[in-house]
Amino acid sequence: MATASAPTVFKNYIDGAWTAARGGKAIEDRNPANRDELIGMFPASTADDIRDAIASAQAAFKKWRLVPAPKRAEIMFRAAEILLERKEDYARDMTREMGKVLPETRGDVQEAIDMTYLMAGEGRRQFGHVAPSELPSKFAMAVRAPVGVAGMITPWNFPMAIPAWKVMPALVCGNTIVLKPAEDTPLSTYNLVQALEEAGVPAGVLNVVFGDGPQAGAPILDDPAVDLISFTGSTEVGRIVSQACAPSFKRCHLEMGGKNIIVVMDDANLDLAVDGAIWGGFGTTGQRCTAASRVAVHKKVYHEFVERFAAQAKKLKVGDGLDPANEMGPCVNEQQLNTVMKYVAIGKEEGAKLATGGHRLETGSHARGWFHEPTVFVDCDPKMRICQEEIFGPVVAIIPFGSFNEAIDIANGVTYGLSASIYTRDVNNAFRAQRDLETGIVYVNAPTIGAETHLPFGGTKNTGNGHREAGLAALDFYSEWKTVYVDYSDRLQRAQIDNAE
Ligand code: UN1
Repeated sequence: MATASAPTVFKNYIDGAWTAARGGKAIEDRNPANRDELIGMFPASTADDIRDAIASAQAAFKKWRLVPAPKRAEIMFRAAEILLERKEDYARDMTREMGKVLPETRGDVQEAIDMTYLMAGEGRRQFGHVAPSELPSKFAMAVRAPVGVAGMITPWNFPMAIPAWKVMPALVCGNTIVLKPAEDTPLSTYNLVQALEEAGVPAGVLNVVFGDGPQAGAPILDDPAVDLISFTGSTEVGRIVSQACAPSFKRCHLEMGGKNIIVVMDDANLDLAVDGAIWGGFGTTGQRCTAASRVAVHKKVYHEFVERFAAQAKKLKVGDGLDPANEMGPCVNEQQLNTVMKYVAIGKEEGAKLATGGHRLETGSHARGWFHEPTVFVDCDPKMRICQEEIFGPVVAIIPFGSFNEAIDIANGVTYGLSASIYTRDVNNAFRAQRDLETGIVYVNAPTIGAETHLPFGGTKNTGNGHREAGLAALDFYSEWKTVYVDYSDRLQRAQIDNAE
């Protein structure tokens, strides 16, 4: 693989060939735990490259849509096997390019494997509906048809899993793809594509163009030949994506921010709740859209929880994710670190009490990376900006509450709606919470992170636009329902009119 002394130069993947960007410009992929390490150079693609990729996807669609779904799936099963074989190498590459610790990058690759197997299984299902007709000698059914060319814009925090969430259902449904991964994590997408290429995905079916959002992402949104867009990223960019899709009525799936909460009731198993809140808050350095950036704690157990939680956060070992001793890696880049530091300053100004953390780590082994201490604000007011806005970093705000209803109001009092969790041993409160929390995902006695691939993933309010990915819900986004009536009566039969006879 790439080394610091001999950076590998990577190319786009268009029409089954690895192709340099026409403009010849490149973007560096650097290790956020050690920015001296250059992992590789990736193309800085522009509109011309995107046009080539779209043309290739458009041409390939003509054939791919006609390949029987079980055959498409065979290729995907092979890709899953390849990913499984290379899991460790791909996890290491991912830790080097985005920083999260190895057990987590192994999980990321595993999530891609799970999704690949799941969707490959759909090659022999993709069930539609068969229904009786109201007329004699008439057959009625609804089948899934592919949509066409799918444009995908994916983030850096799950750089193999999230592209797989989109690519696999799109492929099995018979769509062709133009994928633009985040510029911070191109290698993980490259690895995924490599596996799919080796597994036998035909030329033009999957195209990958590297580059940044404005240069390489925007032209995908604007091109009339792209039929569908799936985007995961910030709410701010999601709005731009949505607006770009609107004039041509492109089918558009948005998966955006979160301000997820863990509610700790007074009857909770506190050890479990503390462990869950640590994992939910600081796993992936807090850089998950599902991260538990808020924890609301019942007043009766507040002090005990806060003390234990802050102590455990303080003990977390922060460093290079390749070192098994470390539990939390760096922020992905300088901009993300700056955002974290900005919100720490905002929290202090707002009067939140800093229980631990609050500083960048920049000496010794941390000197070359974008590290920040696990940070805990306590005694927060739910209306504070640190309790309302997505930070996407290792910052957790703790909010006291006095009753179940108050906790639900706090939980729902944000503009996002991805994931929420409650720790309680009271079955009634657990069920009330799952009913009343306005999020797409609810956990009971588990943190806000850890969704599994075979269930729908997504959120309400400013988190999403009504679609879900993963699970069978993904098939609904990547296929068009086509309703087919076959009248074999040999006479004109008029629906709603002749059915009374
Ligand atoms: C994300 O944070 O963008 O549920 C995705 C989870 C992971 C996926 C997170 N399986 O936390």
